[in-house]
Amino acid sequence: MARKYLFRIFRFDPKKDEKPYFQDFFYEEEKSKVILEALMDIRNEQDATLSFRYSCREGVCGSCGLVINGEFELACRTRLNSLGKEVIVIEPLPNLPVLKDLVVDMEPFFQALEAIKPYVMAEEEIEGQGFQELKEESLWLSSPGYRFEEKEMEAIEPLTNCILCGCCYSACPVVARDERYLGPIALAKLYRYIRDPRDRRRFKDWQYVGTSSGLWGCDTVFRCNEVCPRQVNPAHALLSLRRRYLIEKIKQIFRRKK
Ligand code: SF4
Ligand code: SF4
Ligand code: FES
Repeated sequence: MARKYLFRIFRFDPKKDEKPYFQDFFYEEEKSKVILEALMDIRNEQDATLSFRYSCREGVCGSCGLVINGEFELACRTRLNSLGKEVIVIEPLPNLPVLKDLVVDMEPFFQALEAIKPYVMAEEEIEGQGFQELKEESLWLSSPGYRFEEKEMEAIEPLTNCILCGCCYSACPVVARDERYLGPIALAKLYRYIRDPRDRRRFKDWQYVGTSSGLWGCDTVFRCNEVCPRQVNPAHALLSLRRRYLIEKIKQIFRRKK
């Protein structure tokens, strides 16, 4: 038997709407579907102007993060019948400007990420000589043939599961009140690269995060951990980065005293 739902969807087109509003759509589900499929049906059959973002439909690309009945979810991984409600309220990710309907501008999120240089950094790049002049050792460390020790991999493995959906950034109460704050995943990714044995950045290359817009801005309410669809636990990495920062600071003090 078909299940009946009322979809209450956030709508806003900054080009023509003065303010956002919610629009209701009735939807009948013949067989078990995920929210993304229902949105596609609604767009195809009821309103072709409805905008939302997706790509892989497999929980991998991270582009379909939404707030569904108040919870942060991936639309392509959330079954309608798992929600236990007949009214389904769908909103775009908060803390990011709405471009249209459920599509947000991810630029602030990616800018924060870009700020920490989210890639394995070779020594020569730190010196500003570019990737062309890699030394033999760096080449070996950065090559696909580098074998991680089990412990090295354990330290970074959860962080490599991040699909950059932006849910953690969007749910973070500090991002909501301070646009300068780097947010959970940028700081967690920084920790991921610092722990990567192939990465050559030194403390002086990342100590700039030791401010209220970086490491010390976090309220440690762990909202980012709660909402992450991949159990990345960015707040745990952030706290580890804090410890690492303090250890490096203490080392600096001892070096100066010598
Ligand atoms: S733990 Fe920190 S980074 Fe995570 S949501 Fe809370 S304030 Fe934001
Ligand atoms: S840490 Fe989780 S919530 Fe944050 S961007 Fe990565 S996958 Fe998304
Ligand atoms: S469409 Fe790629 S994660 Fe949902």
